[in-house]
Amino acid sequence: MTPLVNHFENFQVLETDTGVDTLALLEIAEADIVIVADRLSDMTAADLCRQIRRERRARLLPVMVLGLSDQPADEADSLAAGADEFISLPVSAPALQARVWAHVRRKWAADEREDVETILFSLAQTVEQRDPLTGGHCQRLADLSVRMGHRMGLSTEDVEALYRGGFLHDIGKIAVPDSILFKPGPLTAEEWVVMRSHTTRGEEICKQMRTLAPVLPIIRSHHEKWDGTGYPDGLRREAIPLLARILQIADVYDALTTARPYKPAFSHLEAMDILRREARMGWRDPELVHLFTDLFPRTADTRVFRAVAS
Ligand SMILES: [Fe+2]
Repeated sequence: MTPLVNHFENFQVLETDTGVDTLALLEIAEADIVIVADRLSDMTAADLCRQIRRERRARLLPVMVLGLSDQPADEADSLAAGADEFISLPVSAPALQARVWAHVRRKWAADEREDVETILFSLAQTVEQRDPLTGGHCQRLADLSVRMGHRMGLSTEDVEALYRGGFLHDIGKIAVPDSILFKPGPLTAEEWVVMRSHTTRGEEICKQMRTLAPVLPIIRSHHEKWDGTGYPDGLRREAIPLLARILQIADVYDALTTARPYKPAFSHLEAMDILRREARMGWRDPELVHLFTDLFPRTADTRVFRAVAS
């Protein structure tokens, strides 16, 4: 076969002989497609696909495997491991180029959608940074919610929605004036209406992006309560979307274990006690609170103090 590099004069082609080198290259190079053209000396094509898919940033990277049609197991393994396409050799150069371009065009379109999402994530972080006392809250929330999702055996899509929800759940606060958001005293009834609207405002903002559809229930419903006394819809029990219930528990836990001007950071065990009490009071999903408790080792009562900006 003619060396692969000869078929792609419009691309900058970087070639490696091993899977390890390919993974190392992907760490530093901005790739549009990976083509596994020959047998690798250190791993199978399927192993390489699996390792590429483990990296969050490479989840949309097209991976194409070229193989022999008398090796059907390779085809099945590669596709199951996350390859986008398996092409049986021999293949003509024009057919190969057309397939490659189709994948690259799809990748570019996905990149554009990602760019818009990146802007929304930046917006969400801007909201967070308006309050220096909540620094890092979104990342911690995303991490905790994802751990819960894995623990519960949720689908990759649901876990991804939890990760994004960690960052985007309060994006609607961008529409809440500072005078309300940072009011030192209690809010008036009118101010509460504005504050509570961050759920529906956030949903409105993210509704524009079709790829964020799985995150919308989290954004809208993360302040609902198990007994129906939450907002914005007063949903009860299982009517509250599961992902919103998960994120809410992580949200409450993080708020409790973080110092505020009006309260110290509660220890892990104190926060767990409060969560369990709130479950008994009917505010939280008791089963999820129980599962959340299991995320942490049972031994130490680690008092968590976070830096408070002056
Ligand atoms: Fe919120």
